[in-house]
Amino acid sequence: MVKILAIETSCDETSIAVVENGEKILSNIVLSQVKSHERFGGVVPEVASRHHIERINEVLALAMQDANLTYEEVDAIAVTAGPGLVGALLIGVQAGKSLAFALQKPLIAVNHMAGHIYANQLVEPLEFPLMSLVVSGGHTELVYMKDHLHFEIIGETRDDAVGEAYDKVGRVLGLNYPAGKEMDQLAHQGEDTYQFPRAMMEENHYDFSFSGLKSSVINTLHNQEQRGESVIKENVAASFQAAVVEVLVTKTMRALKEYPVKQLIIAGGVAANRGLREGLTEALEQLDDAPRLLMPPLSLCGDNAAMIGAVAYLQWQAQDFAASNVNAYPGWEIDQPRPS
Ligand code: KG4
Ligand code: ZN
Repeated sequence: MVKILAIETSCDETSIAVVENGEKILSNIVLSQVKSHERFGGVVPEVASRHHIERINEVLALAMQDANLTYEEVDAIAVTAGPGLVGALLIGVQAGKSLAFALQKPLIAVNHMAGHIYANQLVEPLEFPLMSLVVSGGHTELVYMKDHLHFEIIGETRDDAVGEAYDKVGRVLGLNYPAGKEMDQLAHQGEDTYQFPRAMMEENHYDFSFSGLKSSVINTLHNQEQRGESVIKENVAASFQAAVVEVLVTKTMRALKEYPVKQLIIAGGVAANRGLREGLTEALEQLDDAPRLLMPPLSLCGDNAAMIGAVAYLQWQAQDFAASNVNAYPGWEIDQPRPS
């Protein structure tokens, strides 16, 4: 039994987990800073770093206590090394290095987006080949995997990430940051009355674009306000969500035709979206030879350290350990080797 202590501090959650064999969560403490960033309408990097420093020891103690383990029983330390906010990442990397050094355990540097994908492994073993729709605050990608730790980006957003579009439209509607969850709830109370644009639907590639949709929603709202018309937030949210889900589902289904896979998995904060989960489930029901759909529970869609521990187990098996000079890599793409 391999027990990995994993650390995640890439953005605004301070999280530490202990995961056994990459699949069983022994503990997973997630401390959200969202209240501190809310009034700024987004994550303030300096504030995030400071919170990580202030709280990381406490989160570590809780994670060890919950797992009911001693440090000697831990086999390796894993840490998110990128992508993310450089200052936030550095706190986790430094904590990981210090623990690995003090305990004389190997250190494993993990990619945050790989973590989102491997959150699914905490639910069910991954089977290859698979397709992953990765949708978070900073990324929107279709990632094809022919095996463990092989990531091929077959399509990605050319401008805004889906989560980013949700947050910006939500902000214009007067919602708190991050607005995705509330938009999702509003969407289920409204109707698609606006018919917002769906970008690049006919084009023969798997890239996405969400900035046109975002601008269209914002312009429509401004025009309505100028005309003194009242805005029904539920219908705006429903119309926006309908456009987003239609694009994501259509492109994903098209990708499945070219890349037959055993599993379709969704990953990242926006994977919690009810409309997306329902849309993909319904679309797969129409296919004769549909792959199995894996969706992490809502608690594992957002940032958490258990998902980092899940990837780290595969790196442990591959003996992919980091040297003590490992750094934070804010722009580390999932399909690239770890920068050095
Ligand atoms: O993966 P994540 O926790 O952080 C990043 O790595 O970016 O994703 C956060 C994003 C935010 O933009 C948030 O608004 C969005 O996920 N989100 C949602 C929902 N829950 C969170 N977006 C749409 N529907 C949701 N239910
Ligand atoms: Zn994330």
